[in-house]
Amino acid sequence: MTNTPANEYVQSIIKGFEIDSDLLKKLTSKYIESMDNGLSHSSGGKSHLPMIPTFITKLPNGTEKTDILACDLGGTSFRCLYIKLKGNSKFTTEMKKWEIPSDYLAEEGADLPENAFFDYLANKIVSFVQYHNSNDENKDLLSTKKNFNLGFTFSYPVEQTALNAGNLIRWTKGFEIKSVVGKDIVELLQKSIDNKLNSVDPEKYPFTISCVALCNDTTGTLLSGAYTSTYDSQDIVDPIMSIICGTGFNIAYMEDLASCTKLTEEQVSTIKTKDVTEMCINTESGSFDNELSVLPVTQYDKIVDEESTNPGYHLFEKRISGMFLGEILRLVIVDLIQKEFLLEPKPSKKQYTHKFSLKTEVLSHVEIDDSKDLKQTELYLIESLGLRTTTEQRHYLQQITRAISRRSAYLVSVAISAIIIKSGRLDPKSSKYKYHQELEVCCDGSVVQYYPGYKSMIRHGLSLGSLGHEGERRVHISMALDGSGLGAGLAALTASK
Ligand code: GLC
Repeated sequence: MTNTPANEYVQSIIKGFEIDSDLLKKLTSKYIESMDNGLSHSSGGKSHLPMIPTFITKLPNGTEKTDILACDLGGTSFRCLYIKLKGNSKFTTEMKKWEIPSDYLAEEGADLPENAFFDYLANKIVSFVQYHNSNDENKDLLSTKKNFNLGFTFSYPVEQTALNAGNLIRWTKGFEIKSVVGKDIVELLQKSIDNKLNSVDPEKYPFTISCVALCNDTTGTLLSGAYTSTYDSQDIVDPIMSIICGTGFNIAYMEDLASCTKLTEEQVSTIKTKDVTEMCINTESGSFDNELSVLPVTQYDKIVDEESTNPGYHLFEKRISGMFLGEILRLVIVDLIQKEFLLEPKPSKKQYTHKFSLKTEVLSHVEIDDSKDLKQTELYLIESLGLRTTTEQRHYLQQITRAISRRSAYLVSVAISAIIIKSGRLDPKSSKYKYHQELEVCCDGSVVQYYPGYKSMIRHGLSLGSLGHEGERRVHISMALDGSGLGAGLAALTASK
């Protein structure tokens, strides 16, 4: 590349996204400290990770055999599932999915009353169960109303107080319904379900539905990974953590109960009666270093945060997840246009000025474009932003894209390294250490699943950082099977044990 002002500026942008080995190690130490503090402090606050106890104290082993009902609220859709566990790590599902109407999302839904959204969800759940129940061959044999235990995947930060109770700390991703913040999510859903079931002739619905488990998508992914990976497996043991890296980013893992010092005595005594030693923790990893004491900050990160629905929070996620990677690149492009290093599109083609108009999927095409003169990139930029570019400019944008995605994957590697180190899996003196044990990390989410080279970049970050090459080679990154759906069902199952 020639040493032009444009090239110099682009290289300075790329530098801003770089994370070297020292910084990886520093971030990992800070992450461990933040986990420790989170285990002893309440889940709100900025100075530590939320580390939310989930009240899931045992992972399934794949031999479970039963039918379960689950529902899953994702960033833009809602699903109901009827799952048949076959008892051999296999399962089948009957599923229905709805796109969430925009009335409930972002600013449009901000001032809705607390029941509005849950009434919408309850209608879907009841109609799904009714449909399922009407096809149930055994229904005529039942003299009393059949009860369906429901597991609910709700992938937002919740201060969980029991397996089936938890107050919303704040919305993340696309929702903003203010009246729901601070309220018990299960109570709201159960109230809406009961109202729906009782609103008509009692004969119409010959069943009841009890929401027995509230589950984050990462928790669900850990449960689903444990159910599906055990049976028949030769050398892979239970997953040690689960990661979601899609619209949002988060991690769950099993922690020693004795380390969860923020649990009240009463909570511990009820759990202890079941003879358990561990609990699954929803780390709410997206909230790491909200104080920005170690995390690198570019001018683009600042804008992404300011324009988000939760400024000042989930700053780690805003550097990692699919919801934000496209927006970071769009803001770089806006900057390059303002500096006149890129040509401003015609007034009729101003998509580039629209927030969140550049999808992370476009970055995944730019990332691996090896066509002559980056023709593919050219087409994607015209189509998504109305931006016309020269070959040289496209090379700049490809380098920047790669810097943004590499930073994202390296930051994920920080969280993985921290959890592995904290849990003593690589320390021969720890009881968790097992000779030659592979450390399975099960994942779900569009970025980790589809972004080209993402898993390799995570591995690179692992070996460059605190795990070093020896630690990195033990890590096995696998994809989970429908963590949020199957996982919610498995969580409901733990309630009935
Ligand atoms: C956001 C949510 C978290 C969820 C993650 C992945 O970070 O706060 O609860 O697990 O997205 O969907």
